[in-house]
Amino acid sequence: MQKNKIYIKSYGCQMNVYDSNRILDLFKNQNYEIADDPKDASLVVLNTCHIREKAAEKMYSDIGRINKSKKDAPKESFKLVVAGCVAQAEGEEIKARAPSVDFIVGPQSYHHLPEMLKTTESILSDEFTQNEKFKNLIYNSAGGVSEFVSIQEGCDKFCSFCVVPYTRGPEFSRPVAEIVNEIEKYINQGVKEIIFLGQNVNAYHGIGEDGKTKDLAYLIDKVSELENLKRIRYMTSHPIDMRESLIKAHRSNRKLMPFLHLPIQSGSNKVLKEMNRKHDIDLYKKIVEKLRNERPDIALSSDFIVGYPGESDKDFDDTMNFVNEINYVIAYSFMYSQRPGTPAQKKDNIPLAQKKARLSALQSLLKEQQKNYNKSFVGKKLEVLFEKKGRHKNQYIGRSIYNQSVFATSETNLINKITNAKITNSTDFALESAV
Ligand code: SAH
Ligand code: SF4
Ligand code: F3S
Repeated sequence: MQKNKIYIKSYGCQMNVYDSNRILDLFKNQNYEIADDPKDASLVVLNTCHIREKAAEKMYSDIGRINKSKKDAPKESFKLVVAGCVAQAEGEEIKARAPSVDFIVGPQSYHHLPEMLKTTESILSDEFTQNEKFKNLIYNSAGGVSEFVSIQEGCDKFCSFCVVPYTRGPEFSRPVAEIVNEIEKYINQGVKEIIFLGQNVNAYHGIGEDGKTKDLAYLIDKVSELENLKRIRYMTSHPIDMRESLIKAHRSNRKLMPFLHLPIQSGSNKVLKEMNRKHDIDLYKKIVEKLRNERPDIALSSDFIVGYPGESDKDFDDTMNFVNEINYVIAYSFMYSQRPGTPAQKKDNIPLAQKKARLSALQSLLKEQQKNYNKSFVGKKLEVLFEKKGRHKNQYIGRSIYNQSVFATSETNLINKITNAKITNSTDFALESAV
């Protein structure tokens, strides 16, 4: 008999990548093989993202393509599943707009998928049962050097533009012991770096072995006791949860990498207030100052939204000035996208041309900062963990302690090696090295 094959596509954030790895583990356990192309699969899972309109629309165009390639396949031989945040946010709409979808499952119930496929129940997306989910998953390394580990999920912040509190549910933290067990397993499979994930990862407050609540700094220290684990990172953090203990860990814990993704969204206090971000510019600057006191070389990253409803030229100038003041090593910026169900929804009033102009100005500035930052390493040595092969012969790609991509050419296999590489050249987005 032919083996069942699963194809999965992840959209959106790293948490979806983590969830997709778990879905693959569940189906490998049911004897499925992985297909590289949806055409060859008997099960296609689209693990979707709802954060901006474009992300959600992409799913519908992919469904159209899959329908075409599967139009001659007998119905019993092929199942299409929509998982992830679009499934959670608009399960009924998907059923109406894309009748070829067989099952719809939200981010907190995908552990039921193998069972669900045996039934005729088509929608399972309205519950937030993180606790039960994590207990019922299977954890195997995806085979790389660095592994994502979800430690916290959901969000209680309700920024006025954002769908995440509605798609992922309330903030939930996994118990310390459960996380340590998962990481031990990955380390035994050769993993050297772990990246803690959470929509608000620094709001982590899981139960420790002594029954008391522990924070992220505790978890980082606890996990760093695992000898063969060499590097720890975490993302994404919210400024109001940036506790002293975590800031101090950047000095005291040498396995904690000197890189922090700390989104601010805007450099205007007026816009921050309207976004319901719960912090102002001053608080953010104070955090940066404290972090730089503890770890002067810490590399900072952020997210920005331009064209938020009511954003004036002055507000946008404030953002540009703010970026100039902080000096980011990398940052991501987006045009505001009106999302169903969010409080900011009705006010989208910045013309598209203006949004585009602001995005382009901000991205040029951020690119300039990134380029200068990368350039400053040429001629110096930098610790790099090599993760995978590059496109060219004998080429390897790794990441520096500051999270930059570093390329090297070597006759010997560099994968899984940590070396002090000499940086020979820099581009806008990466470094080249001799090892
Ligand atoms: N939890 C993280 C980020 C979650 S979403 C935080 O609090 O920062 C990732 C990024 O997408 C956000 O930082 C924001 O910059 C962007 N984003 C979220 N909703 C958006 C929207 N409606 N339009 C444009 N960008 C958005
Ligand atoms: Fe969205 Fe704000 Fe929560 Fe981040 S903190 S996930 S931007 S609501
Ligand atoms: Fe997208 Fe959901 Fe992540 S909306 S960004 S996949 S939490």
